[in-house]
Amino acid sequence: MGELAGRTVLVTGAGRGIGRAEALYLAAAGANVVVNDPGVDIDGHGGDHGVAQAVVDEIRGRGGQAVADTGSVADWAEARRMVDLAVAEFGDLHAVVNNATIEVNKGLERLTEAEFDDVVAVKLKGSFAVSHWATAYWRRRVDEGVHTDRAIVNTASGSGLLNPLPTQTNYAAANAAVAAMTTVHALELRRLGVRVNCVSPSMVRTRLTTPVPGMDQAPGNGELDPKDPAVVAPLVAFLVSEGCALTGQVLSVRGGSIAVNHGWSRGAQINKDGALWTISELAENLAALPLEDPFDRLATALGGALGVHGRDEFEAMVNAELDRT
Ligand SMILES: NC(=O)c1ccc[n+]([C@@H]2O[C@H](COP(=O)([O-])OP(=O)(O)OC[C@H]3O[C@@H](n4cnc5c(N)ncnc54)[C@H](O)[C@@H]3O)[C@@H](O)[C@H]2O)c1
Repeated sequence: MGELAGRTVLVTGAGRGIGRAEALYLAAAGANVVVNDPGVDIDGHGGDHGVAQAVVDEIRGRGGQAVADTGSVADWAEARRMVDLAVAEFGDLHAVVNNATIEVNKGLERLTEAEFDDVVAVKLKGSFAVSHWATAYWRRRVDEGVHTDRAIVNTASGSGLLNPLPTQTNYAAANAAVAAMTTVHALELRRLGVRVNCVSPSMVRTRLTTPVPGMDQAPGNGELDPKDPAVVAPLVAFLVSEGCALTGQVLSVRGGSIAVNHGWSRGAQINKDGALWTISELAENLAALPLEDPFDRLATALGGALGVHGRDEFEAMVNAELDRT
């Protein structure tokens, strides 16, 4: 018997990349899996219903249990239908993995209103919509006297948490909001027995990261590939498993490293009593604090992985990317 036998998990955006690897892993561990994916292009256009079904066929071919759903998480009614499908097909829903995303990367001056809205609709509103309908169902179960371990796993990104990336106004903002929403929902849903956590993958080889230098490099000799989409799946399986104690956590994953994030934390401060600060006092006192240069922070976090050295080289690379997109 697998460790997740008897659990039913809905994974959004499970037709490709990290979500697909999660669905395969969860099913191999014994879970019933709803594989949600409308099979859209990176920017959200188009659609291919065969994408979700292919993962379902793969799971069933290995003796697992799965059903396909091709709705969009950004559509309120379709988000409700995928929750209903899990219950109709498998009798219950124990966990939701909010993984779906699209990306439209452009500098602020060129990013359109529709491109901002589209990314926020899938990444942020989509996570809210599916969690909302799952929670409405879970509330009904509790009111009927059924108390079972339930879980939500959201998906954020370093672009939004540790190193928001230029050209990703929409994506970085939505991912930061997903992390904030994780904390809110962990606090709200504890009384229903629902744990809410968030994973934040990094440098995983999917269609989103194909343009990133070095992403195609993989170790040989059967060694573990730290960029394989499968590196996130065991953590997600743990977070949806019955008896997992974690809630309210945002966990960064890169290869085999898993780090607990602490969110925004208060740094150095200045104080004045009895009168408002003047502008010139602020100029003098704030500038004297140990402030972090955003290019320095980004270069430190990602420069090594991208083969770029120092903040100036990094700033030049960012400006070239802004001109390109
Ligand atoms: N690849 C990385 O290195 C990386 C880094 C940080 C965060 N992430 C996060 O991991 C998650 C998965 O990303 P990925 O790299 O596997 O991307 P991917 O593009 O390979 O997969 C995303 C899937 O989501 C689906 N999708 C898009 N719009 C949808 C909608 N409206 N409803 C349902 N599904 C929809 C797509 O069809 C696609 O199959 C995302 O949340 C992403 O932000 C990835």
